[in-house]
Amino acid sequence: MRKKIIAGNWKMNMTPSQAVALVNELKPLVANEEVDVVFCVPAIDIIPAMEAAKGSNINIGAENMYFEESGAYTGEISPAMLTDVGVKYVVLGHSERREYFAETDQTVNKKVLKAFEHGITPIICCGETLEQREQGVTIDFIRQQIKIAFLNVTADQAKSAVIAYEPIWAIGTGKVATTAQAQEVCAAIRACINELYDEATGSAIRIQYGGSVSADSAAELFAQPDIDGGLVGGASLKADFGKIVNYK
Ligand code: PGA
Repeated sequence: MRKKIIAGNWKMNMTPSQAVALVNELKPLVANEEVDVVFCVPAIDIIPAMEAAKGSNINIGAENMYFEESGAYTGEISPAMLTDVGVKYVVLGHSERREYFAETDQTVNKKVLKAFEHGITPIICCGETLEQREQGVTIDFIRQQIKIAFLNVTADQAKSAVIAYEPIWAIGTGKVATTAQAQEVCAAIRACINELYDEATGSAIRIQYGGSVSADSAAELFAQPDIDGGLVGGASLKADFGKIVNYK
């Protein structure tokens, strides 16, 4: 049985002092040991959020990371900076980073390899645009994103990875994918991992759905056989996140 993983993606929200207040508010609401709970927060919030989360079941993760060890990369955060403070998860290849910060499948792959090298679990995002869905190329497109993201990743590493399927048209729009749509693509992602590696790897890897997940939609989505939790944006910034974590 795969353990569910429910992660918040705060995006560019919450100052350090607001982050502490939010962690303190949510701490009692997300105290569910049956699932892995991760708050992926802006880099400057990582340390104060970790302090606030001490002694709780909340893992503090990062929203991005660079693929070099150190050096002249103004403004970037290195993997060692994250592990030094105890970060275990990093969101990689979010569609907003691909759209606004020129991330490509190739740079996502470099980041994925670097994260594994440092023992950080990547939450690897993929997802199609509305146009691609209407053209009927969703599965082809996602398979390409997954195949490139996992280039040179070993089976053992892949087993511990998290993939977040996030249809771009469902992100921040309130237009959640139907349960059937989400399950179909998550199943196709698992089949792709089976093909790239083997069934043991495919059945170990955890696949989240993301895109307008709410307290209302979580239970049905997370009950699907290939959906192992969610990556939650807007609803992770409020008390509703407690309901999502306790979706059953
Ligand atoms: P949303 O964001 O839940 O606000 O749609 C999800 C995400 O972008 O990870």
